[in-house]
Amino acid sequence: MNTIKKTIFAVSILTSSLALAAPAANDVSISIDAKKPGPVINKNIYGQFAEHLGTGIYEGMWVGPESPIPNTKGWRNDVIGALKNMHVPLVRWPGGCFADEYHWRDGIGARESRPVKMNTNWGNVEERNAVGTHEFFDLADLLGADTYVNGNLGSGTAQEMADWMEYLTGDGKSTLAELRRKNGHDKPFKVTFFGVGNEAWGCGGNMTVQHYTSLFNQYSSFLKAPKDYMPKIIATGGHDDDTTWTDYLTKNIHGQWNMRFDGISFHYYTLPTGVWEKKGAATGFKEEEWISTLKNTLRMESLINNNVAKMEKNDPKNTVAFNIDEWGTWYDVEPGTNAGFLYQQNSLRDALVAALNFNIFHAHAERVKMTNIAQMVNVLQAMILTEKDKMLLTPTYYAFQMYVPFQNATFLPLTIKNNPTYSLGKNSIPEVSASAARALDGKLYLSLVNTNPNKEVEVSVDVAGENIKTLTGRVLTAKAMDAHNTFANPLAVQPAAFNAVADKGKLKLKIPAKSVIVVAVE
Ligand code: AHR
Repeated sequence: MNTIKKTIFAVSILTSSLALAAPAANDVSISIDAKKPGPVINKNIYGQFAEHLGTGIYEGMWVGPESPIPNTKGWRNDVIGALKNMHVPLVRWPGGCFADEYHWRDGIGARESRPVKMNTNWGNVEERNAVGTHEFFDLADLLGADTYVNGNLGSGTAQEMADWMEYLTGDGKSTLAELRRKNGHDKPFKVTFFGVGNEAWGCGGNMTVQHYTSLFNQYSSFLKAPKDYMPKIIATGGHDDDTTWTDYLTKNIHGQWNMRFDGISFHYYTLPTGVWEKKGAATGFKEEEWISTLKNTLRMESLINNNVAKMEKNDPKNTVAFNIDEWGTWYDVEPGTNAGFLYQQNSLRDALVAALNFNIFHAHAERVKMTNIAQMVNVLQAMILTEKDKMLLTPTYYAFQMYVPFQNATFLPLTIKNNPTYSLGKNSIPEVSASAARALDGKLYLSLVNTNPNKEVEVSVDVAGENIKTLTGRVLTAKAMDAHNTFANPLAVQPAAFNAVADKGKLKLKIPAKSVIVVAVE
């Protein structure tokens, strides 16, 4: 048993013996109301993002069919196996900023004859277009995941985008549908979401919202597909504190002429310092940057509230979703790596960032129907890091895996009484974050986060109308705030079992310092 597991085991024993104590008036208590089910937590809230960026696709996932690294149709078997074990529901591709310079015809046909471009956004390295439309859909098939294709509005044309849609989804005998067949895919591809541009306010063309809205109306008018293959169409929204994009888009796009407008894409990254020029390090940080990172990530709550408030006014029937299709931590680039590759380590702090965001997304499941963490492998807040033929799973991977029961579960409201405050310097945040849902297996699941890195927190849990007896699940924690997995020690941070037993339907447990817990409540 490794040290973490021993600690957790001890915590679990302690928890079980404490279960007999009656809660005092000022105890931290969580009450779940299982009789008032809320909306379904769309599985695509757990979506991933794979951009042509650094080693995120090439090396990290795609090695090509000729590689000595075991692969299926060019995709690494080890990485695919691990991603399947965390039930990736959705992948967004090919960008990001890359999407607005991507010309889909470069990525079809014989791989050896595809054009070579420079990836001007990310390190100015050669882009050989080995991964294109067919390879991306192979990846989605291997993962059993839905697909989110991001179109090129910034440097492409309405015709080019319409042609891609026809190539992807045409079911007749048109030249483009026949070309897809010739290239090996008889049936139309199943595109779940199609994005009309990316970050149009920035790398996607430096546009005003007025200009973008006109272009969105124009481009999306020509995105046609057979009924069963029509994807949900996503417009580029705003970022950070800016709600003007959400407001303007939902006031000025009305689905004229059969065009669709199914969602807005919003971006918010968590920076420890909040300053782009000096974001903060992925590891080796002080407690000041632990709390500021968690505080900055908790801003997601007010950002969603502010945008959703605009949408409630402009779209009261809730026809347009608010999708956060880029989120996660963004640190100073790892010393010694290519600055354009956005490679960073991933520590226990990242797992807490992920879990806090999940709990926020669940609470907004009515409007937030899809999100994509940036990014899946080797880039920003990654699930997996690779080094040649080796790979490791990050603490963020484990957070996603622990939360799998929440995919397509039904949200259950809960209240936290006497939630303590964790403070350091000028920063203060609530110590406990929690979320509950009834999963597809019929069980009630509870997630808990303790943001305090120094102190465990004792909590009582009760479920109105239910006599709960046990909590069974897993906990993720470690001794150090920046504990992380390395190629020399790939299992330093991993979840351990966590169990507790109730007394007369009341349950008391201790959430270890700096931890994430997901348990089935039975
Ligand atoms: O995820 C990295 C980049 O961040 C994306 O390409 C872009 O959309 C955002 O600015």
